[in-house]
Amino acid sequence: MPDLFEMMENCRAMRRLKPDPVPDELIAKILQAGTCAPSGGNAQKWRFLVIKDRKIKEAAAAWYKKAYDEIIGPRYSTVAPPPGVSPEKFKRQHEAVSYLTDHFADAPVWIVACLDAGANHNAAAGASIYPAVQNMVLACRAVGLGTTLTNRHMFYQKEVDKALGLPEGVHSYAILPIGYPMGKFGPVKRAPLDAVVYQDRWGQAYRG
Ligand SMILES: Cc1cc2nc3c(=O)[nH]c(=O)nc-3n(C[C@H](O)[C@H](O)[C@H](O)COP(=O)(O)O)c2cc1C
Repeated sequence: MPDLFEMMENCRAMRRLKPDPVPDELIAKILQAGTCAPSGGNAQKWRFLVIKDRKIKEAAAAWYKKAYDEIIGPRYSTVAPPPGVSPEKFKRQHEAVSYLTDHFADAPVWIVACLDAGANHNAAAGASIYPAVQNMVLACRAVGLGTTLTNRHMFYQKEVDKALGLPEGVHSYAILPIGYPMGKFGPVKRAPLDAVVYQDRWGQAYRG
């Protein structure tokens, strides 16, 4: 098994997934990794909904696609590639995003990361769920499963939460579509450290 740093460097968003079933033991291991994450005050208001039921996935996926058609698709066609990403790689990313959109419900398992945050449903609350989500992304990578953090459904969160049958006060913050990857894990493309790290004063080069 690669070490943690190697895994982080090779934990590309895996959007092309095989429909083959995923063993329950692996999903349990991934969920266990999620619950190792910190949360504010260790309150652990997270709840994880494991979805295999195709009908439920399809109902939520319809909103995910609507957000692509209305917002994300057009945006991809107009924005410049992000830092560290070539135009060709960005085009491939767009294709992969479009593929996942069309095959969202085909992923054999979804883990929906939710928070039972009641009235405190805001960005600060999100800080208590995304560490668990990233732990699960890395856990997937460690056991050879592909996934991607997705939260585009939040453009239609109310509708998706309803489609997922979430009770009052519980909201979905991320959907992890999980399956065996069709392609290979590969290196992530990011801007170099000197473009994003400063020392002591904003804009001053980091000398570490
Ligand atoms: C907050 C957040 C939301 C994201 N939402 C989506 C999404 O809805 N759909 C998707 O295909 N990828 C989504 N991603 C994945 C990013 O697009 C992806 O990590 C980024 O393009 C970098 O790709 P790489 O990790 O393969 O280098 C999301 C990532 C983050 C951190």
